[in-house]
Amino acid sequence: MAGTTSSLGGGPAGSPSAGPRIGAGPMTKGNATSVVGMQWGDEGKGKLVDLLSAEHDVVVRYNGGANAGHSVVIDGQRYALHLIPAGILSKGTLAVIANGVVLDPEALLKELDTLRSRGVDTSGLVISANAHVVMPYHKDEDAAREDTLRSGAGESPLTEIGTTRRGIGPAYADKVQRAAAVRARDLLRPELLRARIAQACRFKAPVLGKEPDVEAMVATATAWGQRLAPMIRETTYLIHDQLRAGKRVLFEGANGTLLDVDHGTFPYVTGSSTGTAGIATGAGVPPTILTSAIGVMKAYSTRVGSGPMPTELSGGIAHRIRERGREYGTTTGRPRRVGWLDVVALRYAAMINGVTSLSVMLLDVLAGFETLKVCTAYRLGDGTTTDRFVADGAELAGATPSYTEMPGFMEEIGAARSLPALPKPARAYLDFIQEKVGVPIGFVSIGPDREQTIIVGT
Ligand code: IMO
Ligand code: MG
Repeated sequence: MAGTTSSLGGGPAGSPSAGPRIGAGPMTKGNATSVVGMQWGDEGKGKLVDLLSAEHDVVVRYNGGANAGHSVVIDGQRYALHLIPAGILSKGTLAVIANGVVLDPEALLKELDTLRSRGVDTSGLVISANAHVVMPYHKDEDAAREDTLRSGAGESPLTEIGTTRRGIGPAYADKVQRAAAVRARDLLRPELLRARIAQACRFKAPVLGKEPDVEAMVATATAWGQRLAPMIRETTYLIHDQLRAGKRVLFEGANGTLLDVDHGTFPYVTGSSTGTAGIATGAGVPPTILTSAIGVMKAYSTRVGSGPMPTELSGGIAHRIRERGREYGTTTGRPRRVGWLDVVALRYAAMINGVTSLSVMLLDVLAGFETLKVCTAYRLGDGTTTDRFVADGAELAGATPSYTEMPGFMEEIGAARSLPALPKPARAYLDFIQEKVGVPIGFVSIGPDREQTIIVGT
């Protein structure tokens, strides 16, 4: 595994491994970097964005909504962010919620209040006037659809998606449906707002079993508009102006590649384009703009909600990983499903997103296992074997993993600050990932704190 091109610390020329330590200079190349999740979400994107924020002027959220849960630990203090880019925690950073996000004002205002009460300066937050608004009836619709699916389970092969019930799918559906969608700019246009909400409530009546209270909804939305008005801006020009001025922009992905509405395990996915492709539509920048794409992955797999997960574990191993990794949803508190690492899925995610470096998170969680397993191929229902991902919920459910077994490491690694300080089997595990995914590793996280990060090559 110690091949000359894949061995850690000696990555290909031009890889981010050439960058210096935290806070001492650029860890990424160029001026438009993206951070994307390579699995089913919760990969640790928040921590990485927080780390990279120090060397970026602007951090942009381009997809998803309050379904995301990015937790960041600074000096032992944990911050849970859902809608506000994690870059807000870094002083002086402009934090943009771009047009591709579905904006839940209720969740956003709560988050703002919490951050302010903890002394975080939130004056750098701006919201796209074109972001679609998640209305209370979207959450009711999300719940109603999930309940209908649940009640039909047993008779139908369709099961509930296991959504976060934050109204994400219905809000995106209304955006594409167009007729009665509410955008952030509408919150500031009383006449249009009332008309849109009244129309939407008529459309929702058959799904919800009753028409939502238009007047109450208008009052709520008007109050949101009053508070959000100073933040609502034309963010597309704003982002381009920043890029033209030579500022460094970081695009913060939410959710994960395997939850992408087009490329994930449909229908067990979310409503948005979660990967680098989503940046173009979700922020109004050309796809050619990115100078690096950091793929964030856990050292194992997790998933919340329904849908196939070939390497899923149960019993003692799952319990140990869940407890050590605090694998409970930041948004819903649900225990996450856990499993061994799946490099078939990771290779696919690297391909879809054009990942230029990997960030391996939560490696410390795997300490104490004699053997670590990594899925390198699937055996499919028809008896064939493949090393290609199957982007379909039903078909992937019939896949069983083929594992490569590797020696584990018994000692705790949270105090390591360089690759040589890691036990040999841990380094071999990282080397294996790098070789199988075909992308160099730039970062390794060995604990929740900012300092518990190894920047490869330093
Ligand atoms: P972060 O940004 C993990 C999952 C839900 C559900 C499916 C659809 O923290 O990585 P939705 O409410 O989006 O319609 O639910 O997608 N899901 C996530 N799982 N992390 C996330 O975000 C997720 N966002 C959505 O659990 O299975
Ligand atoms: Mg999360």
